[in-house]
Amino acid sequence: MPTKIEKDAVSGQDTTGHEWDGIKELNTPLPRWWLYTFYACILFAVVWSALYPSIPGIHGYFHGILHYSQRQELDKEVRAAAAEHADIRQRIASSSLDQVAADPEMSEYAVAGGKAIFANNCAVCHGAAGSGRPNFPVLADDKWLWGGKRADIYQTIQHGIRSLDDPTTRMSQMPRFGADKILNEQQIADVAAHVRTLARLDPPSDASKRGNAIFSEQCAVCHGQNGQGNRQFGAPSLTDGIWLYAGTKDAIEQQVTLPKQGVMPAWSKRLDDVEIKMVSLYVHGLGGGE
Ligand code: HEC
Ligand code: HEC
Repeated sequence: MPTKIEKDAVSGQDTTGHEWDGIKELNTPLPRWWLYTFYACILFAVVWSALYPSIPGIHGYFHGILHYSQRQELDKEVRAAAAEHADIRQRIASSSLDQVAADPEMSEYAVAGGKAIFANNCAVCHGAAGSGRPNFPVLADDKWLWGGKRADIYQTIQHGIRSLDDPTTRMSQMPRFGADKILNEQQIADVAAHVRTLARLDPPSDASKRGNAIFSEQCAVCHGQNGQGNRQFGAPSLTDGIWLYAGTKDAIEQQVTLPKQGVMPAWSKRLDDVEIKMVSLYVHGLGGGE
């Protein structure tokens, strides 16, 4: 088919010369705006490739005239942020817990940081926001085994509880009354019955009355005459309805026979002093701080 370029009568444009069954193809040029945008893009790409890291090579890449590097930018930002934090961390390091708590800027920073530290290190055992789990105490209520003042909480976190890798850890041991044959089965059942009356779970009975005497002799030294607990030994209150383990007759008998002894790691080797202060203030602020 011969190609013959001619003008289209209706649009006034050239045709390509292709024709099928009397239909001719117009040779419409690209719109100007499109063409110039296209050229601008090419120019932009060339300039960009020259200025910024672009063309890969075998042993590296072309770094660009500006030597821009996202890694360097990030480093700069991280250094700037660290410098900003260093200032406030320094102030927390040289202030007492009460001073940090009294200063709105430091305390806000400490509690926010303490929240993150808690989520990363403590929530596995103590639950989100210190809500507790079976065998691990709630930290958001005002019942404390060892004490709820800022300094108490700080000491507990720093040195742990029964954490044998720390010589100044909080230490106490409930005797193994059953396993070491200090009390026989009957006596254990009686004293457990008495504990349940202290907690107002059962009304007094003959067994609990016998248990009362055993309690005064064997248990009151740590748990208090009325079972109110004693923080010096981390001995829980037996009357408040809050159980580290459980309040069933079986669980109490088990605890008297062969006690569980909760272990809380010492954090002084894992967290620095500023971090321990921050997480102490966070825990203190969960609801039960004294
Ligand atoms: C491996 C589990 C575990 C982890 C992790 C842990 N704890 Fe504990 N924590 C315990 C146990 C168990 C006790 C109770 C010890 C006892 O029976 O006296 C405890 C007790 C405490 C107490 C004393 C509560 C009271 O009533 O006096 C505080 C405060 C505390 N933990 C804070 C923390 C903080 C803060 C962290 C994180 C830095 C943390 N714990 C991480 C297991 C853990
Ligand atoms: C030397 C101190 C000491 C003596 C004596 C002692 N306890 Fe304890 N008792 C503790 C401590 C400390 C705990 C907490 C254990 C832990 O934190 O894991 C505890 C825990 C308990 C619990 C668990 C409470 C809970 O919240 O789950 C019960 C129940 C209990 N004791 C009953 C008794 C009875 C009954 C006697 C006497 C026959 C007794 N204890 C004698 C120190 C003592």
